[in-house]
Amino acid sequence: MKAILLAGGQGSRLRPLTLNTPKPIVPIFDRPFLRYQIELLKQVPEIDEIILSLNYQPRRIEEVFADGADLGVTIRYVVEPQPLGTGGAIKFAAGSAPTGPVVVFNGDVLTSVDLPAVIALHRERQARATIVLTPVDNPSAYGLVETDGQQNIKAFLEKPSADQITCDTINAGIYVIEGETLDRIPVDTNYSIERGYFPSLIAQQETFVAYTYRGYWIDIGTREKYQQVHHDIMSGRFPAPPFEGLAGQAVVSPDARIDDGVTIEGPCFIDAGAVIKTGARIGANSVIGAHCHIGEGAVVNGAILWPHTWVDKHAHLGPLVAGRHCQFGRNVEVGGAALLGDKSIITDYSRV
Ligand code: GDD
Ligand code: MG
Repeated sequence: MKAILLAGGQGSRLRPLTLNTPKPIVPIFDRPFLRYQIELLKQVPEIDEIILSLNYQPRRIEEVFADGADLGVTIRYVVEPQPLGTGGAIKFAAGSAPTGPVVVFNGDVLTSVDLPAVIALHRERQARATIVLTPVDNPSAYGLVETDGQQNIKAFLEKPSADQITCDTINAGIYVIEGETLDRIPVDTNYSIERGYFPSLIAQQETFVAYTYRGYWIDIGTREKYQQVHHDIMSGRFPAPPFEGLAGQAVVSPDARIDDGVTIEGPCFIDAGAVIKTGARIGANSVIGAHCHIGEGAVVNGAILWPHTWVDKHAHLGPLVAGRHCQFGRNVEVGGAALLGDKSIITDYSRV
């Protein structure tokens, strides 16, 4: 069985972080986001090939995962000539005349859904398509999905307006679909699976089934959600590496150099090659990327710093997010609202 990961979006809501780093590989602690999805797919031994459907900065993603051997999987890359939308991308990646079930994931969702159980339901119901649903407080940013009492999908409405919200279950971005059903998607055309294919299954009364999952699920597509994922893994709300069995603690790489007289408050993460100078304080929920430098007396209070960022003496950083190779000068004060792209420079004594 093949799995297709839709990883071609531009990640526009995560700009500027995604200008040089496509969303599927934005770092979560010390690993590219998609690694969590690949680990989830490994729950299904039948999946013998993972196809990454790419469009935006494909080479960056290929460099990270190569042929998948390091992760114990087989990865193939399919790069669209132009963005084909979610449906067009699946059609393109699946190749000509696909048959049998294909697993599809939106490349920006993190969850611990029981994937074998989803596939089992799909088979038991002999469904043409099965999608995972999850309840959320506000469905307006998602695909709203209505079901009857028997897990049959009755309506699919992408990005509903306030007056169209009739339930709290949304499309979690995880599907099992029969290859044959892709025949309704035109080739080499921009086509939305959410606005075209799913409504068409309903209109044609095909067996279209929901697997409702009430455990952990998040779409990392916005800055708030990106930070939330880190908090959830650190607190143990979503048990996952590098905090598995270490929830609430300070996870410090043995290859970080921490001077005497540094205060570290858990939960936080300090990656390999980081240097923390004396008198610095690393507050709860901070993530210090590989090879970052935190100067004497500096305070990092809940910031997420990507690798190679330099924080000079007595700087104070709130719960901001900063890309690679940023520089925070001496005595700067930067509040938590800041979202800084790679190589940002905040000069000495600035207040942001
Ligand atoms: N290859 C390829 N080509 N991938 C694409 C393209 C494209 O043209 N457009 C989007 N994608 C990928 C994105 O990279 C992302 O992984 C996934 O498809 C979904 O796109 P988003 O832009 O993140 O959509 P969304 O979050 O607004 O909504 C989707 O996800 C929600 C769940 O998080 C929809 O599927 C909603 O129905 C769903 O509720
Ligand atoms: Mg998304």
